[in-house]
Amino acid sequence: MKSNLVTKWPEKAANRSMLRAVGYKKEDFNKFQIGIASTWSNITPCNNHINILSKAVEYGVNKLAKATIFNTITVSDGISNGNYGMKYSLLSREIISSSIEIVCNAQSFDGIISIGGCDKNIPGCIIGMCKVNIPSIFIYGGTILPGKNRTDIVSVFESLGKYFAKKISEKELLEAEKNSVIGSGSCSGMYTANSMAIVAEILGISIPNSSVQNAQSVNKIINCINSGKTLFNLLKNNLKPSNIITLESLKNAIKVISLLGGSTNCILHLLNIAKTLKIKFFLKDIKDLTNNLPTISDLKPSGKFFISDLINSGGIQRFLKFLLEIGILNGDCVTITGNTLKNNLKFIKSNYKNKLLKCLNFPIKKTNQLKILFGNLSKRGCIAKISGKDGEIFIGKSIIFNSEEESIEFIYKNKILNKTVIVIRFEGPKGGPGMREMLTPTSALIGIGAVKNIALITDGRFSGGSHGFVVGHISPEAYERGEISVVRSNDLIMIDSINNKLVFFINEFKIEMRKKFFYNYSKIAFGILNLYRKMSLDSSYGSGINYE
Ligand code: FES
Repeated sequence: MKSNLVTKWPEKAANRSMLRAVGYKKEDFNKFQIGIASTWSNITPCNNHINILSKAVEYGVNKLAKATIFNTITVSDGISNGNYGMKYSLLSREIISSSIEIVCNAQSFDGIISIGGCDKNIPGCIIGMCKVNIPSIFIYGGTILPGKNRTDIVSVFESLGKYFAKKISEKELLEAEKNSVIGSGSCSGMYTANSMAIVAEILGISIPNSSVQNAQSVNKIINCINSGKTLFNLLKNNLKPSNIITLESLKNAIKVISLLGGSTNCILHLLNIAKTLKIKFFLKDIKDLTNNLPTISDLKPSGKFFISDLINSGGIQRFLKFLLEIGILNGDCVTITGNTLKNNLKFIKSNYKNKLLKCLNFPIKKTNQLKILFGNLSKRGCIAKISGKDGEIFIGKSIIFNSEEESIEFIYKNKILNKTVIVIRFEGPKGGPGMREMLTPTSALIGIGAVKNIALITDGRFSGGSHGFVVGHISPEAYERGEISVVRSNDLIMIDSINNKLVFFINEFKIEMRKKFFYNYSKIAFGILNLYRKMSLDSSYGSGINYE
């Protein structure tokens, strides 16, 4: 056992005496030592209940091994969105994964169970487990229930847009604020947290059927208790994340997320997971995988339903079984149960005829919402989310903002003409720094009713809650003198999701001429943000820290 490095008698007597002081008994030293990475925090409803879940995991683990709970940091995207705090969001993923790496290796744990609730904890936990690469399980904190009148956090962001457009009163805005987010759990639509939880289950590192679960539910507690036994089997078989997460399981995950209209952030996280495990999986591969898939889910943000509705209509497994039967998923991928995906679903009946998840022949939309685009405005690629009842191609004239704040101020104070492409730049991993999410500008556009005829492109990111005609992750970013840095007002830009293109109609000679007048509008960064600016990778590699 790896943990003999701290538990072996008599060589490790000094280490053992420290452990005795935190409650170890003699018999504990002969057991597998399991780290439970809890992302518990009172700062956000997404993680508010995770201390209860980590206690349930501890109870389950202690039946067969010895559990030790430790904490990581947490950032709430819902709270930091639209301000300076969001610069720390993606960086928090790196800190969470690194803190798991540090604690697990420093304590010589034999296995890990990590529990995440918010957008960045989930990939942070998964990447951390991949870095340490010992038997590991990820547990999702679960979804929050919808608020009053089927509202949620995105409803409040959009109400704010309506309020500034004088479409609702201050009283109505206050009602939205008070009644939309109630209880604990992650934001309730197919936003980043729920999308990433489903990714974890499809990658095979979460217990089957645990990704589509209510946060405050008996099933969630049972799931936590049972994880101890599952981990014990993983330890006996020495099955690690690198044995479970493979090119094929990554492909499965991206296909499901695309069909469900999931968050663009999943692509960023999957690229980072692939990089951590040294799997060759790039934006171009994702483009090929998603291009011919339709959008079949009527889940929020662009649809009508919440994840709790999906739970009530039978969960995720029947849908996965259906995808397996029609050959979309590779069923041979190994999972933490020790069985393949196919075997896990052996006794599940497929059921694709429900109002949330349409049949592939009669989808919500024949094309996919998630599109990878390339072109003279994004030579290394970018990610479009086109929820699109409004066509697949958008051509419009640019209006330029060199920060998110500039754009929000303008949107609230000015009438934006139809067929405008809002360009928000210097918001990339290095430029921001931190690659902020543009949920406030997209919600503002929806709130003022301008989303139909306006597109938004950025080297920043989008929240899983954003919808409309939006293109993010443009790479190379403005800070690195990418072509987005030389776009000027009234340039003609085309977003063509049919041919996977993002172009502006300027010839190469002119682009090079404009580059001579490059001006860096990025703000000065301090502390860890400055470190991230220096060390972050391009978004086409997942915007992680470059450790090489
Ligand atoms: Fe945490 Fe949405 S803010 S999941």
